[in-house]
Amino acid sequence: MKKTIQDIDVQGKKVLVRVDFNVPLSGKDPSQPITVTDDTRIQAALPTLNYLLEGGAALILCSHLGRPKTAADVQYAMNPVAVRLSELLGRPVAKLDEVVGESVTAAVAAMQPGDVLILENTRFAPGETKNDPALSQALADLADVYVNDAFGSAHRAHSSTEGVARAVQAKGGAAVAGFLLGKEIEALGGAVNNPPHPYVAIMGGAKISDKILVIDNLLRLADKVLIGGGMANTFLKAQGHEVGKSLVEEEALEEARRLLAQSGDKLILPLDVVVADKFAADAEAENVLVSKIPADRMALDIGVETLAEFGRQLEGAQLVIWNGPMGVFEMSRFAAGTNGLAILLGTMAAKGTQVIIGGGDSAAAVAQAGLAEQMTHVSTGGGASLELLEGKILPGIAVLDEK
Ligand code: 3PG
Repeated sequence: MKKTIQDIDVQGKKVLVRVDFNVPLSGKDPSQPITVTDDTRIQAALPTLNYLLEGGAALILCSHLGRPKTAADVQYAMNPVAVRLSELLGRPVAKLDEVVGESVTAAVAAMQPGDVLILENTRFAPGETKNDPALSQALADLADVYVNDAFGSAHRAHSSTEGVARAVQAKGGAAVAGFLLGKEIEALGGAVNNPPHPYVAIMGGAKISDKILVIDNLLRLADKVLIGGGMANTFLKAQGHEVGKSLVEEEALEEARRLLAQSGDKLILPLDVVVADKFAADAEAENVLVSKIPADRMALDIGVETLAEFGRQLEGAQLVIWNGPMGVFEMSRFAAGTNGLAILLGTMAAKGTQVIIGGGDSAAAVAQAGLAEQMTHVSTGGGASLELLEGKILPGIAVLDEK
């Protein structure tokens, strides 16, 4: 078990908190005002931040934002994040213009309990993604304690997620998990370590290639793995079906055949799909059996029979994990599969089934359907939740103090 913020005393301490405030922004043109368009990840960190503030800490926050190449990519500066965070916390948040350096050292030296500051985008520092020991040390020098609440970045061994924890530990300080990290480990870790049964996994999204290791692991762990979304086309083609103009990953066909051969009756594919003449919101849509996909059409959603079959497969499940949409849910004509599944899972969660939604697109789909609150857990991590489901050890978690 990892130590958490509840295992330490932070009164009068300077606490460096790594959060994942890699949030969507309104634009990338720095000459225009840039705002945060989805603050879910900021909201998700508030319990940890408020707890530490109530415990008498001064908070030094850090996060990456986007994938800037250098500090010259000013459209990724943390200013809009600091503005939104300040509104949500209801107190001032000082935004610094460096990650480490003299201005940061001076600002931190002047901090009092209850103060909050946020460093500049950690990826503006050249050493961050290289897990550079000098940067890790400079970050560690700022604080007495390190808290990691950045689940979305826990699969990255970077200075602000991994190296800094080691550097704080080396000087005798604590490196512990925040509430969000703890919640994510419990929910997603529970789907990998000793999960309850019946256990049904639902996988969707465009590509198999991103998720082969996850599907492999879930085929070992779960009783059924239901497949929808774009990735189903590659499986259908591997089975010998005509899939018309549907998105297919030719290079993943071999893997799809292997998974089909190894899975017995565990892997459940669509029975029917919604096809269209083009990839567009106003395309002509038609529900057809998978054996009847016309050569000039593309599959953009699972069909009504498939949703009903998925409902039957889900009956009695104790645990459901869902990662990846069932179709192009951003277009209303191709959203029925994803929305129908979200409604079904919301109802199951209300009746006591543990329903865990992976981060990224599936979280966005559940939020768009207005059903996020009904689920047992909606992950804030995209890549991180996939790596955890693959059974990998995440470096940002592994490094933290054990109880
Ligand atoms: C995410 O959004 O998945 C995390 O913030 C990690 O971002 P990255 O893929 O750029 O490391």
